[in-house]
Amino acid sequence: MGKRYYYITTPIYYVNSTPHIGTALTTIVADACARFYKRRGRAVYFLTGTDENAPKVHRVAQEQGKPTQQFVDEMAEVFARTWRMLHIEYDVFIRTTEERHKRTVTEVFRRLREKGDIYKGSYQGWYCLSCETFWATSKIGAERSCPDCGKPLEWRDEPCYYFRLSAYESRLREYIQSNPHFIQPEVRRNETLGFLAEGLQDVAVSRSGTDWGVPVPDDPDGGVVYVWFDALLNYLTATGWLERGEEYLDLWPPDLQLMGKDILPRFHATIWPAMLMALELPLPERLYGHGWFLVNQKKMSKSLGNVYAPLEVAQALTTASGCELPYATDAFRYYMLREMPTDSDAEFSLEGLETRYNGDLANDLGNLVHRTLSMMHRYFEGRVASGEWRVEEPLATVFQRQVERATEAFEQVDFPRGLREVWEIISAVNRYYDEQAPWAQMKAGDTQRAGQVLYTGLEAVRILCGLIEPAMPAVAHAIATQLNLPTVPPWSELTEFNRLPGGHILGQPTPIFPRLQAEKATKLGQPHRLEGEPPGEPKKETARQGDKAMNETITIDEFKRLDIRIARVVQAEPVPKTDKLLKLTIELGDETRTIVAGIAETYTPEQLVGKQIVVLANLQPATIRGIVSEGMLLAAEVDGKAILLIPDREVPTGSIVR
Ligand code: MSP
Repeated sequence: MGKRYYYITTPIYYVNSTPHIGTALTTIVADACARFYKRRGRAVYFLTGTDENAPKVHRVAQEQGKPTQQFVDEMAEVFARTWRMLHIEYDVFIRTTEERHKRTVTEVFRRLREKGDIYKGSYQGWYCLSCETFWATSKIGAERSCPDCGKPLEWRDEPCYYFRLSAYESRLREYIQSNPHFIQPEVRRNETLGFLAEGLQDVAVSRSGTDWGVPVPDDPDGGVVYVWFDALLNYLTATGWLERGEEYLDLWPPDLQLMGKDILPRFHATIWPAMLMALELPLPERLYGHGWFLVNQKKMSKSLGNVYAPLEVAQALTTASGCELPYATDAFRYYMLREMPTDSDAEFSLEGLETRYNGDLANDLGNLVHRTLSMMHRYFEGRVASGEWRVEEPLATVFQRQVERATEAFEQVDFPRGLREVWEIISAVNRYYDEQAPWAQMKAGDTQRAGQVLYTGLEAVRILCGLIEPAMPAVAHAIATQLNLPTVPPWSELTEFNRLPGGHILGQPTPIFPRLQAEKATKLGQPHRLEGEPPGEPKKETARQGDKAMNETITIDEFKRLDIRIARVVQAEPVPKTDKLLKLTIELGDETRTIVAGIAETYTPEQLVGKQIVVLANLQPATIRGIVSEGMLLAAEVDGKAILLIPDREVPTGSIVR
């Protein structure tokens, strides 16, 4: 038995709080990938679920005065319902309190202990209950707070079992080095290699002091299995590894495991593959770690009151625009994918959602569909009046190219780029309508020409219907209905043109995305806190720009750590396959350096050469699109565009800014 399914996973989510836009991001991206592969004819198996054995979950249940099992049952239902309402079409929703999962964990623990990969020892160290992680003393400062989340650490001193992670360090490194596509995007691969370079120590994989979790087998005093060791195995449980004999290989190994950047290097790209190596199982084909959504430049947190609940955001959009809820939900999905943080973090904002809604959805996509169908009804009684009509050049070439480009980007899980490529089709057709003016052709009595032009537009709508399905399934179905197609066209039909036959009768045009009215739009500007969360400080609408500086101060010594200097751009060139980035060669005193800057939307390379700029010179180098960037250009941000800071007069390059 070999692979039959394309197996896609999300992380399983902790159920100590309800879903928010961060957890929704990973799930929406996974759903869009699953839909994309399904549309291309693959049998897909899409797994998501809940991580219920964590001590912090148990603690929250206790705080709420509920039996923990009842609490996790209720919370798992909240997650499943939220995902269904967001049009997430998962195949299996796994829960780590299921018996079959506990059996997997027990069996793996036994096997690895027999093999000597799990052994008994004792642990003294600092523990973060929130991240469920032990930290080496060398990683924590005098204030004893978690290096990841900043929360206070607890001292633990207990007997425990260890997993022999150190034994897999060199195999892991070699595997990552010789499989460049194993960890994506590139920046995460480098982070993982950096993490490995620090050296691996064995990890504690049992915890005492709690009975919530999977008991360590055959040792009454062994405590419970560490929640991460337990949770990672959900991906194996779901394949039926224990029950289905060789049959589980129709799923194993996973083809695409998606997650946020926080749980990639250490857990999914180190402990997880090492566990699989120990079990002598094939490793996942591809791990993808996206960046984070920030709100007002900060991590979402209950105490700041900036945690957004996805369903409330979709509901608010419906209320504000009059858009039907399934389409507003799709608009939210579109925004999440279009703004998805890939390499670095990105800002989530209701204003950003409004802008995408009014611009990309109401003005661009919605308007193109509506005007095309309306003209077909007005001029041709809603019928493809001639079987001779064909998609015209140069549009046919544009459609072909853009479908290929979008496909390639979706393969890379780069939805921002993929959707930009899709929207190029909309711009091309709008330009073509403006040039051809089918309304004028009709007036002049040239019905055939007008029909030909509108047929080209109609085929664009059919292609767009297929292309947007992974992002906006309900909208794609609505467009298919308006085109009177039995289903959303599969991917293979998106590069086969002239599929709408002569005589085809179209459905009725109905606007999908009513524009947000200015006076209503403010409704979206309200904070949407998670149900049951403490209210926190209301978000100040006016404090958007400088609020970081107003809320958090730094000391002069902290500022002095920044090495900000004047440099001169000596060479500039676009970074291939992006439309935001430029590669700059800069002169910084006696040095020449390369930096990658996100300014291509505001400046051409020619405009930059010779200019003096301000750079942060002691930023840790980062690899961006395969280029090592040694510093960061400083710029003002205006409407999302970068505007250069230039010294008032020529100064020697390398001059210090203070
Ligand atoms: N339970 C573990 C995963 C175990 S998988 C074997 C866990 N759960 S979580 O609920 O805390 O986080 C799940 C996912 O949500 C992670 O991929 C995380 O990166 C993502 N996000 C949580 N907040 C986020 C943002 N603000 N932005 C983007 N994604 C973030 O970790």
